[in-house]
Amino acid sequence: MKKYLRPYFEVLKLLKRHPFKLAELILFSFIGTLIEGFGLALLLPILEGTSTKNGILGDIPVVSSLFVAINELALDERVRIAAVFLILTFTIRSLFLAGAQILSSILEIQTEGKLQRRIFKQVQAVQISYIHGEKQGNILEVLNRHTNQTGMLISEVINGITSLLAVIAYIGVMVWISWELTLITVFLQLLITIFVRQRLSDRIKVLAYKARTLGMQVSSLLVENLSAAKLIHLFSRETYTQKRFSDVQNSYISHYLRSEIVLKLSVPLYNFLNGLVIGLILIASTFVLPDQTDVWLGQVILFIIIIFRLMGPAARFNYANSRISQLEPGLESVQNLLRREDKPYLIDGELRFSRLKRGIQFEGVSFRYEEDEEKALKDITFQIPCGKMTAVVGESGAGKTTLVNLIARLYDPQSGRILLDGADLRDYQIDSWHTNVAVVSQDTFLFNATVVENLQFAKPQASKGEVIHAAKLAQAHEFIQKLPLKYETVLGDRGVRLSGGQQQRIAIARALLVNPQLLILDEATSDLDTETEKAIQSAIEKFSEGRTLFVIAHRLSTVKQADNIVVLLDGKVVEQGNHSKLMNRNGYYKRLVLSQDLSVEHSREDL
Ligand SMILES: Nc1ncnc2c1ncn2[C@@H]1O[C@H](COP(=O)(O)OP(=O)(O)O)[C@@H](O)[C@H]1O
Ligand SMILES: [Mg+2]
Repeated sequence: MKKYLRPYFEVLKLLKRHPFKLAELILFSFIGTLIEGFGLALLLPILEGTSTKNGILGDIPVVSSLFVAINELALDERVRIAAVFLILTFTIRSLFLAGAQILSSILEIQTEGKLQRRIFKQVQAVQISYIHGEKQGNILEVLNRHTNQTGMLISEVINGITSLLAVIAYIGVMVWISWELTLITVFLQLLITIFVRQRLSDRIKVLAYKARTLGMQVSSLLVENLSAAKLIHLFSRETYTQKRFSDVQNSYISHYLRSEIVLKLSVPLYNFLNGLVIGLILIASTFVLPDQTDVWLGQVILFIIIIFRLMGPAARFNYANSRISQLEPGLESVQNLLRREDKPYLIDGELRFSRLKRGIQFEGVSFRYEEDEEKALKDITFQIPCGKMTAVVGESGAGKTTLVNLIARLYDPQSGRILLDGADLRDYQIDSWHTNVAVVSQDTFLFNATVVENLQFAKPQASKGEVIHAAKLAQAHEFIQKLPLKYETVLGDRGVRLSGGQQQRIAIARALLVNPQLLILDEATSDLDTETEKAIQSAIEKFSEGRTLFVIAHRLSTVKQADNIVVLLDGKVVEQGNHSKLMNRNGYYKRLVLSQDLSVEHSREDL
């Protein structure tokens, strides 16, 4: 029972900000159905002109005097009154139901939008490891399909509630006519509902859960293949990826279709079962009702009319519940994504960062990305003195980028501390630190926007002059001038219109524009030719006078002049000092330098 009611409560919780709209909605659809029911119940006495059996309604003074007045009229006049009554009833009913439909659409679309905004916010608030872990396709699927399903779920829940209310109202009218027949009807209807629940709704739910999983896979495959489009072409894997996609998609379609078929089969099934109920009621009425032929016939006809009317909301109620079973998995995955308890968040500190005075200190820092993985950093201790250039070298996978991720506070270390002028980085407000650090990383990201917009992303209030100055420092001005619309040229999705080196220079310009106190370059010049790299380096050196610079470079020649070089091996600091000191040590650094010198000579020989 509880599991069937859950979606009802969840939807009411979603709508708790709009209690009036919700109340209006339920009221509108209920009144619409109520008018119809009672209007029809009144129709027969008007036609028959009897005042003897107006029952409950007849006890109301206005109604009884109305009946008395009608009783005095001729039959044809009564028919005309009945007709006007009928038209009025249907008009009012339609107006109320139209109002209900509009309100329902408003709630549905607004809730969908609100959920999408909450998901967007959540995805930005949660620690980035969660987003990398959770496949991006899954998040898209939740954002698009599942919020949409949740919206539809609202209408279905409202349908469920109002049709149940209508069923109750009809039952009230039926009791007025014959409580014995009502009992039989309710009993049979309950049987049908339970049967539908167990045979159909539960089956639909199982299929819908499976379809949800497969839908997420379809979406993930799509996103993955979009990002890997180039790779797929280069390796001629089109047929393979298409087959993989259509396999998963076929499986999705088959599950979704099956749940849809069960759902749609339920409608004729209700109709059949209801036909059976009416037949049984007719038979039962011959036993239950009094033996006066004309009264009996009038009552039975009225009763059957009401049952026909009742069948509508009863079927809607059952259909709504089956549909809720089909949509519930969507609601659940929206809720899962929005749940905060089971996700990692960075906790904001109290201190406001303003100026770096002494420097950054790593104190026995260890870090791993996942619980069961090997540590990416092991007991790291070193300093990044203020106003100096600190470099990190090491083979790929040594943990260099991880250091950057920790300094930029994308993650927090599991043990040890990172101190800013002696205070733990975690005690600072994240914003205040982020606005003073600029990271240029290996994988540059450019938005599908103009060059200026891409640069101003880091500092929206930057003037055109500042933008051009930063572009010049980053050796980007020249090639930007050659673009069709110069600074107003729209860079394609992910900057495909630019070469790797050009993208890197835009990213460097973007970082320089912020005028950061700490500039981090994580292999930021790896795609550049030696000439451009040198030019940028001298520009950065000029720019970073008095500023703190943290550089990770693959080419060791570019970090020779660093004040301090930290050498990483397998997540551990193995040596540190300036270039000449490290060369004198005859250790790992020297081996790295020599192997690079050799490889340079080798490649020259190859030419
Ligand atoms: N997002 C991540 N999730 C899990 N492991 C990661 C992640 N990023 C890096 N690693 C692992 O951490 C280690 C250090 O990686 P990284 O800091 O990127 O090295 P480097 O920048 O020196 O090449 C590697 O073993 C890598 O596999
Ligand atoms: Mg790296």
